[in-house]
Amino acid sequence: MLRTHTCGALRISDVNSTVTLSGWVQAVRKFGSITFVDLRDRYGITQIYFDETKNAQLDENGLGREFVLQVHGKVIERSNKNLNIPTGEIEIAVENFTILNKANTPPFTIEDNTDGGEELRMKYRYLDLRRAPVRNNLELRYNVNRAARTYLDAQQFIEVETPYLIKSTPEGARDFVVPSRMNQGQFYALPQSPQTFKQLLMVSGYDRYYQIVKCFRDEDLRADRQPEFTQIDCEMSFVEQEDILQTFEGMMRHIFKEVKGIDYTEEIARMTWDEAMTTYGNDKPDIRFGMQLNHINDLVKNKGFKVFDDAELVVAICAEGCGEYTRKQLDELTDWVKRPQIGMSGLAYIKCNADGTHKSSVDKFYTAEDLKTIADKCNAKPGDLIFIMSGTYEKTLKAMSDLRMEMGTRLGLRKPDEYKLLWVLDFPLFEYDEDGNRWVARHHPFTSPKPSHIEVMINNNPKIENAAKYLEHPYAGIKANAYDMVLNGNEIGGGSIRIYNKELQQKMFAALGMDEHEAEEKFGFLLGAFEYGAPPHGGIAFGFDRLCALLGGSESIRDFIAFPKNNSGRDVMIDAPSEIDEVQKKELGL
Ligand code: AMO
Repeated sequence: MLRTHTCGALRISDVNSTVTLSGWVQAVRKFGSITFVDLRDRYGITQIYFDETKNAQLDENGLGREFVLQVHGKVIERSNKNLNIPTGEIEIAVENFTILNKANTPPFTIEDNTDGGEELRMKYRYLDLRRAPVRNNLELRYNVNRAARTYLDAQQFIEVETPYLIKSTPEGARDFVVPSRMNQGQFYALPQSPQTFKQLLMVSGYDRYYQIVKCFRDEDLRADRQPEFTQIDCEMSFVEQEDILQTFEGMMRHIFKEVKGIDYTEEIARMTWDEAMTTYGNDKPDIRFGMQLNHINDLVKNKGFKVFDDAELVVAICAEGCGEYTRKQLDELTDWVKRPQIGMSGLAYIKCNADGTHKSSVDKFYTAEDLKTIADKCNAKPGDLIFIMSGTYEKTLKAMSDLRMEMGTRLGLRKPDEYKLLWVLDFPLFEYDEDGNRWVARHHPFTSPKPSHIEVMINNNPKIENAAKYLEHPYAGIKANAYDMVLNGNEIGGGSIRIYNKELQQKMFAALGMDEHEAEEKFGFLLGAFEYGAPPHGGIAFGFDRLCALLGGSESIRDFIAFPKNNSGRDVMIDAPSEIDEVQKKELGL
């Protein structure tokens, strides 16, 4: 080995030992004729002391930042101790040293608070990865990975790898495709998830499967989305929804304990999708704070205020202790909801004064009594501020949910060190696709409907006669055996109990507008397998990158991926995607 110890290993008890360390030069400090170097590796930093006898050799080589250096010498006690680092009581008095490799001056400082911008750090990601905060994130990622494996292993799950060159799996995004040289004009798709394969493994009798696996989705990117990301993908046979929920509550508790040292013993909250949408306007509510939505249509209609009278939905939230907000603050929030991302036409408010009276932006239309009724409905106390928005149902719900989150952030209610898990249950089976004026699977087409809703699906024509009234179509009310796990307002996992009966699966495909021929062509392999003894089964997949980011206190998954893509889906380090040459294109028949 080119070292006897790492740069994080030596302590005061090692004084007088002779050691060899290898690492990167973090900093060089000259004091008169002596030189100190901070030598860094994955494990820490150790101070290296060169006396004046080494100057000639040092000068000759011009030791600089990020040089790779091997030093041999004696551990001595430091006179000027640094108690902020574990090795801070000692230093190495160099007897001899070798420069293992030189380095150009790095384009940004390799420090916790670097001067490098995002784009530059991504271009030189291998240097960025030397920084402690990034390394800590990758270590946390590894710890989550290991904790998940240990738990699943103890529960008799086995990991099975499934192929990456496959046929399209419908998870709602576009596929990345790979041209086949041997089958010209034909393409593989990269899996959006191993969904159909894990179901086939159930048919094969591998009743507890998991895989920590890459998934590929060509979709618009955000802080919590990458075109290739990792799932902890799981499937179980002979289970009902409750078994899955409990198994994976266990996994999350285990991960919290192993990775964060947190005993997550409290009951994990559950709510239906309907409840989440009504009370939070969101299917992944952050339940670290209240500020729930109050539907106040019946309290505000027919009082002469046209905006509320014409609205499908009038909804209010109560921001505790914000009753003193100034005109300027209110105007700023009004502008905030008018931004194109939110798209509302305005924001009404009611201030709850200390003396029990109310002051509102819609005073003209509402009596003191009316305002008090609204305030009571919102459980508002003197000193609170009520926000009201109105408009079409879905848009208004979403806008109010966004405002609630914004106020939660502004008021410090989204505490970074607090974790609240939540199951959202009973998702709708279908989702209305405006562009195609048709129903699409909300989760994926293998998700089973609630048993009591199967008849509604089978006995009603999926055709939508009146797009404006799609919510009145019987399909809009069909619920699925589908569940999501939410952590602090982020969807970290989703799954369902599957259809395992060929006829029902065919009916599901038909409901999604697929004729028999198309269903056979796309999913014949699965329908075929269902004829050979498919067991009842269900599963879930966790967004591994998201889980790691949240446990690391961030909502951006990029910082927890060794080599991520930027928001345009580019890897700026290797410069991909890129052109391919004509010969290659020709070979592929492109
Ligand atoms: P779903 O599509 O809900 O389910 O995905 C599971 C979880 O994966 C994460 N996720 C992502 N993370 C980063 N970047 C992305 N582009 C991205 N897309 C999804 C989310 C999500 O909750 N086959 C089903 C699972 C099942 O039914 O068992 C599936 O993939 O955290």
